Amino acid sequence: MPYAQVISLDLAAGVEERRSAVRTAYRAVAATDGGKIAAWLALGENALPPDADRPQHLKQMPSFAGDVLDPSQSHGDLLLQITGASSPAVKKAAEQTLRALPQWRVRWRMEGVRPENRTEDGRGLARNPFHFNEGYGNPGTPAGVTERATITDTEGEPSWAVGGSYQVIRIIRLATEFWDRDTEHEQERIIGRRRDGQWLDGTPSTERPSFATDPHGKITPLDAHVRRATPDRRNPPPLVRRGYNYHRGDDDQGLIFSCFQRDLMKGFEAVQKRLEGEAMARYMLTTGGGYFFVPPPKEHWIDAAFPKRT
Ligand code: HEM
Repeated sequence: MPYAQVISLDLAAGVEERRSAVRTAYRAVAATDGGKIAAWLALGENALPPDADRPQHLKQMPSFAGDVLDPSQSHGDLLLQITGASSPAVKKAAEQTLRALPQWRVRWRMEGVRPENRTEDGRGLARNPFHFNEGYGNPGTPAGVTERATITDTEGEPSWAVGGSYQVIRIIRLATEFWDRDTEHEQERIIGRRRDGQWLDGTPSTERPSFATDPHGKITPLDAHVRRATPDRRNPPPLVRRGYNYHRGDDDQGLIFSCFQRDLMKGFEAVQKRLEGEAMARYMLTTGGGYFFVPPPKEHWIDAAFPKRT
């Protein structure tokens, strides 16, 4: 789906029954989901009370090196994501859903688009604001996506959370004018792939390049994005990315980076730490986002997750 509304919500002042407010939101989103619209809800760290049976990694997104997190664009009790084939349809679905949620107020809201959105070899691809195609590093089969993103009963998570996923959002502002002053060749050395996904040693996009035969980074620099993200091609990081470009006025554009994983530490956090000091860092600034938990697609998780009031 090429268009998205990403909306963070906080519980409105004075609402005390958190369980029923979450249930109302869950049902409103489930009613929106279907047909030409895909919608889902994810829980922020404060959606569940402290004594709930909580997903073990659900916490407030920390500030990583170089981040300048604006609190008015970060975190939130719930995340509502609505995607669809047209921007007006997605906006309309968002307004309708929000009207059904008087117990929640919007904390921040972004609109995103995936230019040239398409599927090749089972992977969703789109062009990011740096003119590069993104999505090649994702698995090419639904089973591969599930394996990286969906929680099973082996992660030590509460049993209601099995079938769910951790979603990370990062609002990353990109210095596109500054980037566009570099030659395409320089840009490719910063990313570590060509714009069309081909590797710098000429290996096709869907095959593995051999970083081992380039130990000093003569072909693919050691600080290139993909080399930092996945130094060992046999062990790709266990996460699935699906970002949207955003554009808010002339000088604020970038990526609503989004990824899903079953383990936040082995997934996003491990990659983010390896990316520290990458060549691309001077072209980007993370200003917002958050950590969220997408519950499994059956409503009964709500009663299991919230503590019983006796
Ligand atoms: C806004 C900044 C970013 C841009 C412009 C960007 C761009 C790209 C591009 C062009 C690729 C190569 C094509 C592909 O495999 O999809 C890529 C790969 C990748 N990126 Fe990013 N990315 C950004 C941020 C991030 C962040 C924040 C993370 C995670 C912490 C990340 C993780 C990855 C991973 C895991 C790969 C796949 C590497 C592989 O296995 O080949 N990226 N990115």
